[in-house]
Amino acid sequence: MTPFRTRQFLGILSAAALLSLSGCGGGGGSEASTESSTLSAQATLGEKIFKDISLSASGKQSCASCHASDFGHAQDNNLAAQLGGGDLTLQGGRVSPSIRYLATNTSFFFAADGTPTGGFFWDGRASSLADQAGGPFLNPLEMAMASKADVIAKIAQASYAADFKKVFGDDIFSRPDEAYERVKLAIQRYELEDADFRPYTAKYDAFLNGSTQLSDQEMRGLALFNSPTKGNCAGCHPSAKGADGSHPLFTDFTYDALGVPRNTELAANADSTYYDLGLCARNTGDLTSRTDLCGAFKVPSLRNAALRQAYFHNGKFKTLKDVVTFYVQRDTNPEKFYPLKADGTVDKFNDLPDAYKANVNTTEVPYNRQAGDAPALSDTEIDDLVAFLQTLTDGWTK
Ligand code: HEC
Ligand code: HEC
Repeated sequence: MTPFRTRQFLGILSAAALLSLSGCGGGGGSEASTESSTLSAQATLGEKIFKDISLSASGKQSCASCHASDFGHAQDNNLAAQLGGGDLTLQGGRVSPSIRYLATNTSFFFAADGTPTGGFFWDGRASSLADQAGGPFLNPLEMAMASKADVIAKIAQASYAADFKKVFGDDIFSRPDEAYERVKLAIQRYELEDADFRPYTAKYDAFLNGSTQLSDQEMRGLALFNSPTKGNCAGCHPSAKGADGSHPLFTDFTYDALGVPRNTELAANADSTYYDLGLCARNTGDLTSRTDLCGAFKVPSLRNAALRQAYFHNGKFKTLKDVVTFYVQRDTNPEKFYPLKADGTVDKFNDLPDAYKANVNTTEVPYNRQAGDAPALSDTEIDDLVAFLQTLTDGWTK
């Protein structure tokens, strides 16, 4: 049971609805790739800060280290979590996601029907890109700087320090807290203005524009992706153009509990009493009473998913084929994904305490099956679906 979401409508409407809500000039659209690449002075600074490894305790890590542009602005490796801290030996808690196609995301809210929606990070705890950007510099598992003032002192020595003063005032470095707020806004401007964060240059975009065909296999995969009785993927990862012609983002920015298996690659999981509970446990503390939301994580965009080498919030699966197989066989063949308990039964949804296992979505296609049923997709159909997902990678050329 997932009383907290009613998705069928939202899945189809939300990309367009969110686009129309966007007043920040960063809205998506199919024309982004033809935009001029000129960034505002603030965004230009934001780009320099985003790529500046000197703003880390290790002196070796920048935002771009974990959000690499060649990998859809996500991590460039198959680790469950990236290493950070002063000597780059401390493991983070979650997969580093793609940060493309976020311009139309909003702060977290409950939709009228109660569906948790929006917010940044896997648990929606940051309210905006700027709010998010304040985190990594000071996170001891990431860039691990000691204080805001330390970050600003480094910027005051950077090659772009004079530009920073020009944009934010000659005496800005004497007010580190204010300067830090400017840093956050500059990064946000960069993420909103630079079309690299929303190029819409996938083969599927060309297909939607009518300028190319998908192969027979890709077309079969698209049909399976959309079919409410087969993949039903579009229910949470919308694939259709918005009413305004905007291209789909393949996320509705909602949340769901999928029951992804526990990943022992995460050091924190060595403690058998530790669980990453997602939404209900986020550090803003506002949802602690909503135990029905424990285990729920944000629906990520599937654009550029084919470039990834670790999937889901905990990086449990390493290939798209494994992800799709999990979706369709989780309930029919749970022994393939979960370990056995002492009594020999399968420890299904083993990354959640027993009390929250009922939060996992077991009502919607493709996870509405029982052990022994036929999976929603055959092996060939899984391959077709993966072929379709590969059409969502930016930078496609004929
Ligand atoms: C050590 C790796 C690492 C570094 C460095 C890092 N990030 Fe991230 N980033 C992550 C991880 C991991 C998450 C997901 C964390 C979570 O959900 O709890 C994330 C999440 C995000 C998100 C939210 C994406 C979404 O879908 O809501 C944005 C935006 C982002 N990072 C931007 C940045 C910026 C800007 C910087 C530099 C100031 C930065 N990151 C530095 C690993 C990193
Ligand atoms: C009921 C909503 C829902 C449906 C239906 C759904 N997904 Fe997802 N999807 C999610 C959520 C939520 C996550 C993140 C879960 C997590 O990390 O714990 C996710 C994550 C993913 C990821 C990992 C992306 C990444 O960057 O790590 C892929 C790939 C994916 N889904 C593909 C599919 C496909 C293919 C289908 C159809 C077979 C599908 N999804 C159906 C909600 C859904």
